[in-house]
Amino acid sequence: MQIDIITIFPAYFREAFDYGIIRRACAAGLVSIRAHDLRAWTTDKHHVVDDRPFGGGDGMVLKPEPIFAAVQSLVGASRRESMAAEKRVVLLSPQGKSFTQALAAEFANCEQLVFICGRYEGVDERVAEALVTDEISIGDYVLSGGEPAALVVVDSTVRLLPGALGSETSAANESFSDGSLDCPQYTRPPEFEGMRAPEVLLTGHHAEIARWRREAALEKTKRNRPDLLK
Ligand code: ADE
Repeated sequence: MQIDIITIFPAYFREAFDYGIIRRACAAGLVSIRAHDLRAWTTDKHHVVDDRPFGGGDGMVLKPEPIFAAVQSLVGASRRESMAAEKRVVLLSPQGKSFTQALAAEFANCEQLVFICGRYEGVDERVAEALVTDEISIGDYVLSGGEPAALVVVDSTVRLLPGALGSETSAANESFSDGSLDCPQYTRPPEFEGMRAPEVLLTGHHAEIARWRREAALEKTKRNRPDLLK
């Protein structure tokens, strides 16, 4: 898989993928991740990427030309309709549809993902209208730019690539894979400052442990994310 990130802060990503599962996936050749400076696709002397919004208002808006040029050079197309189904161009923005585990799984099947990190007050809407295949928000809060959101989406996608996790089964049993949260986990010591780990987990009784885990996961989902059970 090829991942390209278009940003005005490429240095933000310098070490971001050098840890843990993502580093291993890169080292194993499962994915190649590159961050590109949007300014490389400007044609003026001062490498201007933004301008004032039509109609007035605060802040600056990212101009369409460098973004369309960047996607044309990275994907070989600058209209959504002319892109191969295995290529996705993702705009990170608080106006996007919600990012989910299901979308991460869909992205993990792609051949190329291009992320456009929004900045300032926004991105010229013609980018969302004609260029991007997916406009995505990572949650109902506003970040100062799309960069942290791109990290989140890349991380959750790359760890789903076949071979990225230690064991092929570990992605199947985790939170959201079946619509609820993962069960609580404990490790040694069995008693810590008067708090005991659940006895059933120490018995080696596989059927009972599995039952306890199902119930504990359901309890935790009810408590922290009742919306998932509706
Ligand atoms: N840019 C600013 N806020 C964002 C959010 N919540 N998700 C994705 N990109 C963003």
